[in-house]
Amino acid sequence: MRFLPGLILIALSWSAPRAMGQGTKYGLWTPDRAYSDSQPIQWTGGQFEFPCASTKSLFKSSGKYISKNVIATRAQLIGDTIYLALPRYRKGVPATLVKTQIQSGTCSTTFKPYPCWDLQEEGNCKALQSVVDLVVDQNEVLWVLDTGIVNTLETPVRKCPPKVVAMSVKTGKVLKSVSLEGLTSSSSRLQYLVVDYAPDGGCFIYVSDAANRAIIVYNLQADRGFRVVLPKAVSAGCRSRDVLYIALIRRDCGSTELYFTYLSTSKLFSLKSEYLRSGVADGRILDLGKKPSRMVIIGTDNGSAIFFRNEGDAEVYRWDTNSTFSETNFKPVYRSQTCQLVTHAVPDYKRNTMRVLQSNFPDYMQNRIGCGAIQQLGLMQGCW
Ligand SMILES: *[C@@H]1O[C@H](CO)[C@@H](O)[C@H](O)[C@H]1NC(C)=O
Ligand SMILES: *[C@@H]1O[C@H](CO)[C@@H](O)[C@H](O)[C@H]1NC(C)=O
Repeated sequence: MRFLPGLILIALSWSAPRAMGQGTKYGLWTPDRAYSDSQPIQWTGGQFEFPCASTKSLFKSSGKYISKNVIATRAQLIGDTIYLALPRYRKGVPATLVKTQIQSGTCSTTFKPYPCWDLQEEGNCKALQSVVDLVVDQNEVLWVLDTGIVNTLETPVRKCPPKVVAMSVKTGKVLKSVSLEGLTSSSSRLQYLVVDYAPDGGCFIYVSDAANRAIIVYNLQADRGFRVVLPKAVSAGCRSRDVLYIALIRRDCGSTELYFTYLSTSKLFSLKSEYLRSGVADGRILDLGKKPSRMVIIGTDNGSAIFFRNEGDAEVYRWDTNSTFSETNFKPVYRSQTCQLVTHAVPDYKRNTMRVLQSNFPDYMQNRIGCGAIQQLGLMQGCW
């Protein structure tokens, strides 16, 4: 496997799924819970709402729209609207940030480019090039991480500098575009995005840069950022700096902590956000101990719980960071019935539950799909 700039191939992390375990108990998984819209939404490839039929045929004939090359890997929900990141791993992804509505039990869905078609144009650096992660904050602002690199699974092309763009969900207006050019290098591999508010209301973004073993910190008020290079111990034992997961945990008292780990290292670490924001991480990183497996961190509940699965395995676990980091505290909460793998676990605030975005992305990565990747947004039923 080659490691190309911006290559997200391993950011999702996969290996052949293991056989389903027999008789596993799903403590928090009750299939019959009465949600009127508890059926998953499933779709194949990607269907888009084009301005008109001629645009669609033009996109098709020019190779700008190839449905089977579309895959959603990250999601956010506000009310009944789902926002999806469609990274441009291959050619033919007409829009890299889209929205759609929750319509339970449907086998297709149509994407609306978000906020509009103009912002999806490849090669226009004001527009989005390849969105790999997205976050909705408490002010209904949608933040997206755009690596600027397209065709990462074919011939990667750096179209534009990497950036984070903030959009108001209420108006669809771009509020802010933060260039990460000065905080990255040509070898950077930006993978995950977190948005944090300091107690004084100051807004900060954190972006993981796996290749540079760094977390980029950007202070929106001051309009400046810096790079926190993590100690060597964080990547110790890592053959390659593959995937650097970051997850923001909120304590009841209002303080936040960033948990982080490389996919192929053996340990999990955390750091209080106040130290990250002030750039004084040295000597303050907490070593939480050995991971029992190669954990793929897939999200949080916007509180103290982290959701993860083991590499190549369909079972999703919840770990409340209030409890010690040990296997006895990892609760199985979800397993895809189709052996699909979850790439994001996201809160559904309206229904007070968690949802999971899953797909057969290992097949997509290996180009073993027929009409397109099969993607599904399901419900992680039960409490969380
Ligand atoms: C996440 O939790 C915080 C703290 O409880 C809350 O203020 C915020 O509204 C939550 N985020 C969203 C998107 O609801
Ligand atoms: C985590 O700890 C806080 C503070 O002790 C507590 O209020 C909260 O309920 C705990 N969360 C869970 C899920 O146990």
